[in-house]
Amino acid sequence: MLRKEGNTYFIQNQPVSALVEQFGSPLYVYDGQKIESQINSMKEAFSAVDVKLKFACKALTNMSIVKLMLKNGVDIDAVSIEEIKLALRVGYKPSQIQYTPSGVAFSEIEEAVSLGIRLNIDSLQLLEKVGETYGNSLPVAIRLNPSIMAGGNLKISTGHADSKFGIPIEYIDQVLALVNQYDLRIVGLHQHNGSDFKDGSVIVKAMKKSIELAEKHFPNLEFIDMGSGFKVAYHEDDHITEIHELAKEVVAEFAYFQERYGKKVQLWFEPGKYLVSESGTFLMTCNVVKHNPGRNFVHVDSGLNHLIRPMMYDAFQEIVNCTPDTEETEKYDVVGYICETDTLGKDRELPKVKPGDIIAMKNAGAYCFSMSSNYNSRVRPAEVLVYNGRAHLIRERESIEDIYRHQIEVSF
Ligand code: LLP
Repeated sequence: MLRKEGNTYFIQNQPVSALVEQFGSPLYVYDGQKIESQINSMKEAFSAVDVKLKFACKALTNMSIVKLMLKNGVDIDAVSIEEIKLALRVGYKPSQIQYTPSGVAFSEIEEAVSLGIRLNIDSLQLLEKVGETYGNSLPVAIRLNPSIMAGGNLKISTGHADSKFGIPIEYIDQVLALVNQYDLRIVGLHQHNGSDFKDGSVIVKAMKKSIELAEKHFPNLEFIDMGSGFKVAYHEDDHITEIHELAKEVVAEFAYFQERYGKKVQLWFEPGKYLVSESGTFLMTCNVVKHNPGRNFVHVDSGLNHLIRPMMYDAFQEIVNCTPDTEETEKYDVVGYICETDTLGKDRELPKVKPGDIIAMKNAGAYCFSMSSNYNSRVRPAEVLVYNGRAHLIRERESIEDIYRHQIEVSF
């Protein structure tokens, strides 16, 4: 995580200016110990039940980060065949990967099954097809849509009635009819109701719905998977999911369920942001400072091609000038170099910025690099993992060759 000591900003023991000097700008930097402390705080909080963490690797899919999860006993939540292959490649066993596809081609499902991956089914059509194809030979989970508006933002809420995700709980009779018809082996019930929950206790409310269905209709469950939604701080005074407080409620409810159910059931979560958001810092460099009559702009050597969350979700991420010469501040819009509006931060009060200053964006671990693109034919940044005080390059900066790669020039 980014920290200040005297007038210098560091990530662990590494001054940000040294990181930029060594690896170039812009640069994604992740703090491995912060990731491990987030993992440990979740494990501890839920230790009274048999909890399993599945990293939602879409948040940050660099192989070295995924490998760090493996080292720390965290399994994988994958949403594409490519994520599955990447997890297998870094050493995960198929049994450690849960696949939660959303409306993919059946050929992709077949490929995942042939790799030995457990499937989480999110439509009646897929349930039927799985029944026809595999009968009771395949243990599967069902993704439910509980009609709960839980996320902090409509774009990242997934458990509400108008969402494309999951099988609506109202269709439980149709689910049961297919389960009976094909003698399906339902071993898990899954929900993921969104990201950034305003109020974490929505997880308890949603879990009660899964528990009720488990008790009524699914006697052979091995796990209940409550997805994610754990909120981290993006703003200094942001509310967050107090994981230990939430866990007390969840654990009490779940332990009582197990007593009634008469069988051990695992409780699964699929954190993305909680594990990696705060570990990441995106280091950029100021190219140009521009003073218009009504506004000041800091142009950095990046933009929505590298970090799209502010433009896509109106997301707020804190911005820091890491190398100011003065404490005097000015209000800026921090913007990119892309030829369309790409505001990274609006009205930010920063110590006066000059060209060459290192501008850091916090919370850049989740959905930042993984949502980056080559828009404007720009190359993607390098990624560095600082682990136990050593900076490891975990992705090379792209080059113009990467922009040309896969393009085919027609000879006219
Ligand atoms: N499980 C499933 C099935 C998911 O679809 C997701 C995220 C997660 C777990 C992890 O959720 P998290 O712990 O990260 O909140 N790009 C958006 C967030 C999209 C989340 C997509 N699904 C953003 O940058 O805010």
